[in-house]
Amino acid sequence: MNLNIGVIKGDGIGPEIVTEAMKVLDRVGEVFGHTCSYEQLLLGGASIDVHGVPLTDETIEKAKACDAVLMGSIGGDARTSPWYRLEPSKRPEAGLLKIRKALNLFANLRPAVLYKELKGACPLKEELTEGGFDLMIMRELTGGLYFGERKTVEKDGVLTAYDSLTYNETEIRRIAKRAFDIAGKRRGKVTSVDKANVLDSSRLWRKVVEEVAKDYPDVTLEHMLVDNCAMQLVKDPKQFDVILTENMFGDILSDEASMVTGSIGMLASASLNETKFGLYEPSGGSAPDIAGKGVANPIATILSAAMMLRFSFDLDREADAVERAVAEVLQAGYRTIDIMSEGKTQIGTSEMGDRIAEFIR
Ligand code: IPM
Ligand code: MG
Repeated sequence: MNLNIGVIKGDGIGPEIVTEAMKVLDRVGEVFGHTCSYEQLLLGGASIDVHGVPLTDETIEKAKACDAVLMGSIGGDARTSPWYRLEPSKRPEAGLLKIRKALNLFANLRPAVLYKELKGACPLKEELTEGGFDLMIMRELTGGLYFGERKTVEKDGVLTAYDSLTYNETEIRRIAKRAFDIAGKRRGKVTSVDKANVLDSSRLWRKVVEEVAKDYPDVTLEHMLVDNCAMQLVKDPKQFDVILTENMFGDILSDEASMVTGSIGMLASASLNETKFGLYEPSGGSAPDIAGKGVANPIATILSAAMMLRFSFDLDREADAVERAVAEVLQAGYRTIDIMSEGKTQIGTSEMGDRIAEFIR
């Protein structure tokens, strides 16, 4: 099979980690008899440097022509990078939001799994994570606060900023269905997270999620307020199977969940629309402080590539092989600095990619 993959290396550690994921994909191609063709796409700061804007219409069209897009990360250090002297709508993050919207990638899946080999990197007490945990955050990605109208105005000499949070029932229904579908294939539990004790958008969220739940008698639904969820994630992460939530809550909770797994460098993600197309990226940021040093953890990007094989190409065997290779490399004691612990072998970004590629059989 020929895999026609768009590649957004992006900014910061993006180019380094994507290079490793491509290495692993090429190896998958060799072993399983596929060819990967890559189309390089510019997004974020890398696009600003060339085109003056973080995303061009041409890039959107090129992305649409691919079967799937693999991405690194975008953005820089807001205190020092010239990108952040541009108006907000021209900064790197605006490009990422725009491509998600343009491709209608409303369903963002962020799995947080504690590998038994990384128990030591998990900051929680051992008794809380005995036996590991495996949860999936289903984050709504194209609505809510990040896409609402916003403005800053001066009223009687006082600056006032507005951001609006809107959800309609169609947006809620389609993401809720995705969450129930996935939960049905996992442990059959959806925890819908909202702030229904305060927000109207959350009250509608709850109502629609309850309607959708009726079509899934085998999946258990529970509701949880977002502040409580933030606490429960560090108190008892094992209670969760699928966490379904709106855009901003999902952004925040997924960073928290990643840390509970040991490092944000381990958290993959898939952003999907109604078709087989998807954008696959690590959940972490561009980490400008370590960019170019060859120390970034490429595992989240490699696991994102595995999600791409599974969801966009239906190549389950290949995806399993990548995930198994990651586990085996960890078992063999190799670690990047963010997950390093005593007695293990510390290696850099590119060596981690080499090791994982070697373990693909
Ligand atoms: C993420 C990131 C982005 C988001 C930023 C860079 C706009 O934090 O993918 O979680 O908030 O969605
Ligand atoms: Mg985030």
